[in-house]
Amino acid sequence: MTINASSVKTSILVPISATLINVINETSDVKTFRIKIDDAKHRGEFTYKPGQFAELSILGVGESTISITSTPTRPDYLEFSIKRIGLVTEAIHTLVSGDKIALRGPYGNGFPVEHWKGKNLIFVAGGIGLAPLRSVINYVLDNRDDYGRIQLIYGARSPQDLVFRREYDIWREARDFNLEITVDCASEGWMGRVGFVPALLKEAAPSPENAIALTCGPPVMIKFVLQDLVSMGFKSNQIITTLESKMQCGVGQCGRCNIGPKYICKDGPVFTLTELNKIKGDF
Ligand SMILES: Cc1cc2nc3c(=O)[nH]c(=O)nc-3n(C[C@H](O)[C@H](O)[C@H](O)COP(=O)(O)OP(=O)(O)OC[C@H]3O[C@@H](n4cnc5c(N)ncnc54)[C@H](O)[C@@H]3O)c2cc1C
Ligand code: FES
Repeated sequence: MTINASSVKTSILVPISATLINVINETSDVKTFRIKIDDAKHRGEFTYKPGQFAELSILGVGESTISITSTPTRPDYLEFSIKRIGLVTEAIHTLVSGDKIALRGPYGNGFPVEHWKGKNLIFVAGGIGLAPLRSVINYVLDNRDDYGRIQLIYGARSPQDLVFRREYDIWREARDFNLEITVDCASEGWMGRVGFVPALLKEAAPSPENAIALTCGPPVMIKFVLQDLVSMGFKSNQIITTLESKMQCGVGQCGRCNIGPKYICKDGPVFTLTELNKIKGDF
């Protein structure tokens, strides 16, 4: 990591130790890791907002940037849902309850959930992109009276790739919560919808009135969802996305993540479409 040590408080770069207290198999390549920070002082200092992320590391292997998928309203633990794609995520997937992991953070701006009180919220997610949005969803459910209607439009490649399945019934039973799910390809026994997320979004046609739309997923999905939301009448300041471009330091020091004049790690990863249009970078 190339960091000018004199210009950055080193303490924000020092990983702290945590213990895995639960590991849930979400899909064949996604696991959710529930952890507890070991030191009580560090635990108390790790306060976060939905949409922030941490750098998780394994000694001798490396670090990965991962969104915090738990909600700060449930402060006894932190959760990270991780897709196994390479060196670090494969190593994390070998861990079991009781093992140690290191982390630093929380980093990034997070979602301005305090400013959305009284608004209807529309979540549009694909695959593991539901992870950062789940933090907002459960935050809103824990503060249910502060928010309006909730609509979640979620899709994955196949029924086996849907994450957080154990929570769908809880969400469906929550007040004014509408959950619609689609898969790109059905497998045997799937009775639900088949098709891409943008098609389901068009069908659901959420109203832009008094609403905020949040989206996260594969870049190609985000591209179509942003266009569709605009054509449905959402203004660009009502549309929010969270970017997952590659990072290194996570704190605006190494220059690994910049698009135009912005650092995704520091100025983002949460951006309104208004901000993205100004940046005009290749995100
Ligand atoms: C803000 C942010 C939040 C994220 N949240 C999550 C999350 O909640 N869950 C999750 O599973 N992943 C998340 N990611 C992606 C995660 O950081 C990478 O998948 C992970 O670091 C890969 O590390 P690795 O060592 O296993 O893979 P590597 O061995 O480094 O890479 C394996 C392959 O994946 C590609 N790759 C690595 N990182 C990325 C990336 N960020 N985007 C596209 N391709 C990449 C590499 O080019 C290579 O082809 C997030 C990324 C960011 C920036
Ligand atoms: S990751 Fe280093 S500047 Fe953003």
